[in-house]
Amino acid sequence: MESGKPTALITGASFGIGLELARIFAREKHNLVLVARTGDKLRQLASELEKAHGTRSLVLAVDLTDAGSPAYILDQTTRAGIPVEVLVNNAGFGQYGLFAENDLEECLKQIQLNITTLTHLTRLYLPEMLERKSGSILNVASTAAFQPGPLMAVYFATKAYVLHFSEAIANELAGSGVTVTCLCPGATATEFHKRANATAMRLLGMGTMDARTVAEDGYRALVGGKPVVISGLKNWAIAQSVRFSPRKLVTAIARATQESKRE
Ligand SMILES: NC(=O)c1ccc[n+]([C@@H]2O[C@H](COP(=O)([O-])OP(=O)(O)OC[C@H]3O[C@@H](n4cnc5c(N)ncnc54)[C@H](OP(=O)(O)O)[C@@H]3O)[C@@H](O)[C@H]2O)c1
Repeated sequence: MESGKPTALITGASFGIGLELARIFAREKHNLVLVARTGDKLRQLASELEKAHGTRSLVLAVDLTDAGSPAYILDQTTRAGIPVEVLVNNAGFGQYGLFAENDLEECLKQIQLNITTLTHLTRLYLPEMLERKSGSILNVASTAAFQPGPLMAVYFATKAYVLHFSEAIANELAGSGVTVTCLCPGATATEFHKRANATAMRLLGMGTMDARTVAEDGYRALVGGKPVVISGLKNWAIAQSVRFSPRKLVTAIARATQESKRE
């Protein structure tokens, strides 16, 4: 890797918000460690960013639901002598449907990826950041973090964990030189809903944001050291309204927006 440029490690950089974050970090003079399962997409992105910005990338095609994947990633960056200045825990997925009927294996994989891998990578890269007294972590949660989500019960709960975990460690790390930012996107046009089998949700009829805008919001908040950013004014207003409403009502409204347009 070229010396002088800081390195950002981005999980889920092959599609959607993570891909746009990779483009932004490259534009902002970072080298990259690109992580996801689809190695071809990552290599294609690495070559695009090398041509556009002279960015050097280490590509790691890894399934982050494997319990050993965080240790493998740390080992690869250590062997390559890459200090990770920015850790972006973006990879995540959801699963649509009634909890009692959803595939158990997929439920557990969601928890593994959205919660366990994010926590594990954070814990593995924090010591080197603390030693250098500098570093930043961007954890991608969701506006799903602010209320229970019938029909995507596990997904919403995983994102509540990401938000609370991120805010708590941001507080613990104050004054250490390491910042933690939690990005909460609302519905965004990416592969996410197709993969979650959730393309018919009413919520999507209310409009989506584009991945680039969401990624720019996350980048700006990270640079500004903000603990939490909700992307988009409408999403921010909805997240605030939830705080003053009865939880039963909030859950019922979430159910209504999650339901399929066909139901
Ligand atoms: N789109 C939305 O409406 C929305 C709203 C709020 C929050 N979010 C959050 O934003 C983040 C990014 O999602 P997105 O919308 O950009 O979705 P996306 O287009 O489906 O991208 C998801 C990324 O995560 C990677 N990924 C998924 N499973 C993986 C695994 N097992 N191992 C390694 N990488 C894996 C995917 O890469 P591979 O398939 O190549 O592995 C891909 O790069 C997620 O945490 C999601 O929960 C999305």
